[in-house]
Amino acid sequence: MCGIVGYVGGREAVEVLLDGLRRLEYRGYDSAGVAVLNGQGLKLAKAVGRLANLEAELKQNPVHGNVGIGHTRWATHGAPSVRNSHPHVSYDNRLGLIHNGIIENYRELKAELQGQGVKFQSDTDTEVVAHLVARVYQGDLLKALAEVLPRLRGAYALAMVHEGEPGRVVATRMGSPLVIGVGEGENFLASDVPALLKYTRRVIFLEEGQLADLGREGVRLHGPDLSLLPAKVHVTDLTLDAAEKDGFEHFMLKEIHEQPRALAETIRGRITDGRLDLAELGLTAETLKRVRRVALVACGTSLYASMVGKHLFERFTRLPAETWSASEFRYADPVIDDSVLVVAVSQSGETADTLEALRLAKARNALSLSICNVMGSSIPRTCDGTLYTRAGPEIGVASTKAYTTQLAAFALLAGGIGRLLGRVSEAREAELVQGLMRLPGQVKALLDKDIVAVKRCAKKYKDVFNFMYIGRHFNHPTAMEGALKLKEISYIHAECYAGGEMKHGPLALVDANLPTIAIAPRGGTREKLLSNVQEIKARSGVVVLVATEGDAAAKELADYLIEIPDCAEELSPILAVVPLQLLAYYTATQLGRDVDKPRNLAKSVTVE
Ligand code: AGP
Repeated sequence: MCGIVGYVGGREAVEVLLDGLRRLEYRGYDSAGVAVLNGQGLKLAKAVGRLANLEAELKQNPVHGNVGIGHTRWATHGAPSVRNSHPHVSYDNRLGLIHNGIIENYRELKAELQGQGVKFQSDTDTEVVAHLVARVYQGDLLKALAEVLPRLRGAYALAMVHEGEPGRVVATRMGSPLVIGVGEGENFLASDVPALLKYTRRVIFLEEGQLADLGREGVRLHGPDLSLLPAKVHVTDLTLDAAEKDGFEHFMLKEIHEQPRALAETIRGRITDGRLDLAELGLTAETLKRVRRVALVACGTSLYASMVGKHLFERFTRLPAETWSASEFRYADPVIDDSVLVVAVSQSGETADTLEALRLAKARNALSLSICNVMGSSIPRTCDGTLYTRAGPEIGVASTKAYTTQLAAFALLAGGIGRLLGRVSEAREAELVQGLMRLPGQVKALLDKDIVAVKRCAKKYKDVFNFMYIGRHFNHPTAMEGALKLKEISYIHAECYAGGEMKHGPLALVDANLPTIAIAPRGGTREKLLSNVQEIKARSGVVVLVATEGDAAAKELADYLIEIPDCAEELSPILAVVPLQLLAYYTATQLGRDVDKPRNLAKSVTVE
């Protein structure tokens, strides 16, 4: 997601725009830019990377004016670069536009415009909107925007200025947030409230499909047909810090609750007319013909996602798949050649070990793909193709929405490759597609359910020194990830085993002081895992059981039962991990830990 701001009033626009963008930088920091009107036309300033680079640019080449728009980018289409940074300008250089979201049908619109001789300056989806509005502009920017909107598909919050109307900012939203700030003789707009709080607490939350017309003296709201609408002004009591976290106490909790939207973004555009659609990867049956084996390389949470990915690849492609800790892969002289598909998995796209493992695989002629959350980062730039998770920036050190969206990406990738190889029937594909489409709603329902058992368990066991996590097959990695979450933010030790391993030694650890988190959703190993739970109970062990809603046997056995919605076994790790994320979070907050910045750790490990 990106951050957008706009201003019209008596102040230096650049000052207000930069201040707003600073408050929104957590939404994306690949590049930033401003467009200002000053009576002598449209003036632009842009820079790649953090906002500080734009500030330096503006120090060198100041831009003056009282009306303008600004943008801090989180790239979805078009790698981070000056040419791809917003604001984008129309072919006549008179209109500046900024966008947060994805224009899904931009390819066809771009082809139409190029057919009419429009020269594109960027690789982004956004630029098409600037040209479309300019093409119909006849002196009224609001009218021109209203005329173009019906042609756009996807999600957008748009703001624009035109040198023909130097005292005006026009904006609209569909699927991406936009809030208006109402001042005295000045008005503002932004993606989020933090950007406004320095200047005003009077805000209007733009509704879906509404258009906003900002002048120095006032704000007018319109429907898509330009009918005038009443503007409901709220006085917000949000503090700046609370607003950046959307009212959540920590970024981690905010990101746990962003998972429904993040999963929807991961899936968006990869299921077309009910079929898996990986056209963006350019993979063909031809390219894949040489592949005999799949090797997944990653670190930390991404490694556990890869362990689920292994099972997904083997289930849907029937290709043997193996997972490697990237730091091990690099020094193990692995057997890699052109018959291997290597998939590197990384939220940041900058993890040193994963990047070097990928380079080693490429040097041995492997076909290479990546699953990544940061557009244009080093890992995607090194491999043959990338499936972006589009989860939005993940600020909390403990990875949450990146993990669940990696799992969804693996399901898309394994299912899509399985189909290309002719190993997934249409019926099987339809099942997987339906399961994926239901996920965002199921995660939302899970999060909306106040999971009392999680909070009770966190409260009761926050002072124990050891937890045990167990799972099998698709949910053994879930147990690994749940244990890591607890360890890295609460600093409590947690052991993790495949359930079948317990009687080979770890069962000796079990007594009344050792809580065991057992993950047993509906699936091929549920019965066996419930037997492991019985073994633990027989030795006075306490069991927190994650099971599918309505599982009577689980209810009978559990000391604490956490129910998750019913779903296909292959997708159950996405639902099962959510209560484990929350258990770690509530345990850590009960202990007063620094949840977003846990000791000894960093968000991206760019050194060996
Ligand atoms: C997980 O909560 C940690 N933040 C850490 O294990 C992380 O997953 C690992 O460092 C890999 O990072 P990446 O996904 O950015 O490559």
